[in-house]
Amino acid sequence: MKASLRIAVIGGDGIGPEVTREACRVLRAAAAKGLSDLELTHFPHGADHYLATGETLSEQTFESLRDDFDAILFGAVGDPRVPDGRHARDLLLGLRVRLDLFLNRRPLRLRAPELSPLRSADSAPIDFEIFRENTEGLYVGIGRVEHEGTPDEVAVSESVASRFGVERIVRRAFGHAAPRGLRVTLADKANAVPHMFGLWRRVFAEVAAGYPGVESEMRYVDALAMEMIRVPERFGVIVTSNLLGDILSDLGAEIVGGPGLAPSANVNPGAHGLYEPVHGSAPDIVGTGRANPMAAVLSAALLLRDHGAVDAADAVEAAVDAALASGVRTPDLGGSATTSQVGNWLAKRVGGADTPA
Ligand code: NAD
Ligand code: IPM
Ligand code: MN
Repeated sequence: MKASLRIAVIGGDGIGPEVTREACRVLRAAAAKGLSDLELTHFPHGADHYLATGETLSEQTFESLRDDFDAILFGAVGDPRVPDGRHARDLLLGLRVRLDLFLNRRPLRLRAPELSPLRSADSAPIDFEIFRENTEGLYVGIGRVEHEGTPDEVAVSESVASRFGVERIVRRAFGHAAPRGLRVTLADKANAVPHMFGLWRRVFAEVAAGYPGVESEMRYVDALAMEMIRVPERFGVIVTSNLLGDILSDLGAEIVGGPGLAPSANVNPGAHGLYEPVHGSAPDIVGTGRANPMAAVLSAALLLRDHGAVDAADAVEAAVDAALASGVRTPDLGGSATTSQVGNWLAKRVGGADTPA
């Protein structure tokens, strides 16, 4: 019998545990229905755990996440009681770097036209992906502050791009686009930041030359942001650096219905994966039952798909579409359902009579 899929669950902070609970409920329903064989193991890591124990992510826990699991399902981190965000950096950014999850896939698909604030959404299907580089750029944390607190204060943050790091994600973008007939767009800022983005452009052009059948283009990110609003339907895969990808993915989320509908997969394909909504811990709505769990549920679907559980992934995505069509929506999407009502509905839709209580 096929070994079961071992999933580590880290709810994290704020609405992270609220939406992750619903994603787990949907996963258990898929398992009960026989669509996938999986085991969920919960980890307490987040701000509460850090404040109580001083542990952000111990070596032992890291090794267990690395060696004992097939994938991580993650909620969100960020808590006002930890103003320097130390635990969030160690957990989320730490796992991205230490597991070398270089590819952050952020699919943006408009699931129903009325979810978009854009006028054009009625006519054109919006369905593209951001491939965000996830281990380099301005996120490397290299820098210094000189003369702190004086009028001469200077802060320096360095941004790093390696040929290895850029080439591997650009190759993934073209490899994904080629069989699907998608256009590949590089988003950069080579006009103002020539060193780093000059490298991105050279590598992009080299890789593109190996894919003569794939339409490709290089765009400055500021103009591209306008195009994402004006003609979002023209994009297939947008490949970009860490910080630009972070910003574009929230912009993209908003044009397909907002943070409650945007999932993501942080992967080193074939090796490790951490699946999480694009959104954060939303301290403004924690505990109110208003958090939309669909981004977390769709992240769980990405996890299932990447691990070969295609029927389960299809069933979960179809359930989300059915909930949207039936008006089973949290307030961010104009509905009045609570987080757990939506999760319950989705689990029942996936599991049918076999849904666990
Ligand atoms: P956020 O994404 O948490 O919230 C932005 C806005 O979107 C808020 O108004 C929030 O209520 C709303 N929102 C987010 N998710 C929602 C959902 N599922 N349903 C309904 N509404 C939703 O961004 P922020 O306020 O800038 O950040 C809050 C904290 O989260 C910060 O500490 C930040 O660092 C952290 N953060 C973590 C992650 C992550 O763990 N992946 C991602 C982004 C931000
Ligand atoms: C995201 C988040 C993180 C990021 C934060 C919490 C560090 O905004 O995953 O989009 O910038 O990568
Ligand atoms: Mn972000």
